[in-house]
Amino acid sequence: MSNPPVPRRVLLAIESSCDETAAAVIDEDLTVRSSIVASQADLHRRFGGVVPEIASRAHLERILPVIDEALTKGDCRLEELAAIAVVTQPGLVGSLLVGLTAAKTLALVLGKPLIAVDHIEAHLYACRMACGPDVFPAVGLVVSGGHTNLYDCSCASGFEMLGATIDDAAGEAFDKVAAILGLGYPGGPAIQEAAENGSPSAFRFPRTFLKDTERLAFSFSGLKTAVLYEVAGVPPRDYDPAALAPQYVADLAASFQEAVVDVLVGKSVQALRRRGRKALCVGGGVAANARLRERLQQEAKAGGFDLAIPPLVLCTDNAAMGAIAWEHLAHGRIADLDLDVSAGLVRGRK
Ligand code: KG4
Ligand code: ZN
Repeated sequence: MSNPPVPRRVLLAIESSCDETAAAVIDEDLTVRSSIVASQADLHRRFGGVVPEIASRAHLERILPVIDEALTKGDCRLEELAAIAVVTQPGLVGSLLVGLTAAKTLALVLGKPLIAVDHIEAHLYACRMACGPDVFPAVGLVVSGGHTNLYDCSCASGFEMLGATIDDAAGEAFDKVAAILGLGYPGGPAIQEAAENGSPSAFRFPRTFLKDTERLAFSFSGLKTAVLYEVAGVPPRDYDPAALAPQYVADLAASFQEAVVDVLVGKSVQALRRRGRKALCVGGGVAANARLRERLQQEAKAGGFDLAIPPLVLCTDNAAMGAIAWEHLAHGRIADLDLDVSAGLVRGRK
């Protein structure tokens, strides 16, 4: 007589760190049973960026329907869950609290383990989900709306920060330059689209720190200001972004994008050399950028390193990457019910 099949272990992951309310159901073998993302982009568009108060109110309205949908699509009942995972940092405090309160309530009522997830580490873990269990050790690059960080990743949850931006994040620069050019919000996809018709060499914009091989740091604020000065003069005068000529905008978008990509690729290669790593993992919303993906692939081929970069749905914010909670669960990293959120980055859990 054969034994009955062992039921698969599943976890629920919740993400509400910024302007996406998301929940996912993931098996222990990292199969994503469901991944629901309710974007708030429409609510924030007219403000040109995320408004924290609007974000937390929208999370409140959406969190339960999103969790319900994830469980239904994932064909999973609450009692079947092995754990509840939730992003607790970094992010907007009011937004994070909505996800954390939902997660704590479920964990308490169901008597399930509560697991704290770091959003940035989850972005890197998405590479393991997409490209297989052997992606680490590697250098990790996280490029999102709030962060541009390099890591040395010794294993699936051992991330040591090597360097970060000293001012704007890469995604933030995309969003701000899109606003300067009148391209709307979110800026990354809008710049990418405009850049398709432009010349990347039309304008020579700064590549800050690129030649400084001693320093694994980024700075995008000067680049953003260089685009503003080109468009509005020095000191900047009032102008109507809608009146800018389409070819001028396309050339500026392509030249700006190329400068960002040059720096991201160049600094990643410097980090690989410095740490003697042979693989690069890239995550975060800006990793969805087609030109960055193309250039990284070229560089990986030429430079002889492996590139792990998730499909677009695992680059931009989602809850499925909360699957990193399986690593924490395996190592007994279970949170207490007095778990709190944190706006900032906690450096390098080892
Ligand atoms: O990781 P993410 O979804 O949210 C944060 O954790 O911040 O990243 C959002 C950022 C935004 O700045 C957005 O403009 C940028 O990712 N982004 C892109 C693209 N898609 C999203 N940037 C460049 N090209 C894209 N295709
Ligand atoms: Zn993110």
